[in-house]
Amino acid sequence: MTKVRITVLCENTVGHRIGTGEHGYSAFIEAARGNYLFDTGNGHSVVANSLAFDKDLRSIKKIFLSHGHYDHTGGLPDVLKLRKDVDVHGHPHIFSDRVSVLREKDKETRRFVGIPYKKSYLELLGARFLFNSDFVEIDSGMFLTGEVPRQTDFEKPDPRLFTEMDGKISPDTFPDDQSLILDTEKGLVLVLGCAHSGMINIIDHVVHKMKKEKFHAILGGTHLDFLTPEQLEASIRSLKQIEVEKIGVSHCTGMKAASRLYQEFGERFFHGSVGSVLEI
Ligand SMILES: [Fe+2]
Ligand SMILES: [Fe+2]
Repeated sequence: MTKVRITVLCENTVGHRIGTGEHGYSAFIEAARGNYLFDTGNGHSVVANSLAFDKDLRSIKKIFLSHGHYDHTGGLPDVLKLRKDVDVHGHPHIFSDRVSVLREKDKETRRFVGIPYKKSYLELLGARFLFNSDFVEIDSGMFLTGEVPRQTDFEKPDPRLFTEMDGKISPDTFPDDQSLILDTEKGLVLVLGCAHSGMINIIDHVVHKMKKEKFHAILGGTHLDFLTPEQLEASIRSLKQIEVEKIGVSHCTGMKAASRLYQEFGERFFHGSVGSVLEI
């Protein structure tokens, strides 16, 4: 692919004069072949930020969903009301019931964190769901990872996240977590949602599937701040072995992990706040 521009549309922080922050992630991708939307944020800012940054949601060819959490999918109805009939790519498990469980002393708080809308409602608004479990080429030079094998011994799932079935909860294994790959003339560009499969597991899977090792950029949510300091340091050590020119983290990376990445990667690091742009 040549001439690609990726704009962070929804994210927790705002680094510009304009735009609104929220707990969520979305990236608007402009390519020679058309425009695409990767995730939709939680619903609070996707339309407002698309107007602020002059990105026409009516023009998108496809929507990609990284996984079935509300902060990546809650903007779907607003986007669909503007775009109508559009392909929405995701894993077959994105509609699982998901909860987060917060345990403080003797108190337990459960919160629903899955896709906040029924599939049938989203279809009524024009979503054409296309499900994939495996690695797939969506358009020329544009791929979805499919399910990511868990290979590293240091990347552990977030212990607060569960799936719920018949009132019983079990740890969420996130089979639906997938990332987008753009094969550009400068190298691979990897866009992560929350990286629930583990950022290094995802990168290893991409290298294996693409048979290429050079990354021009790695963008998106890395989930590094929710895990142990040991896991963060082990992830950074692995990341330093990878050939990557730019690391533009967002969302669930968190300030502590982002600061560590800046310390290690210096000018190759940038914070992917709302309105940040990567041009290839
Ligand atoms: Fe997230
Ligand atoms: Fe998530």
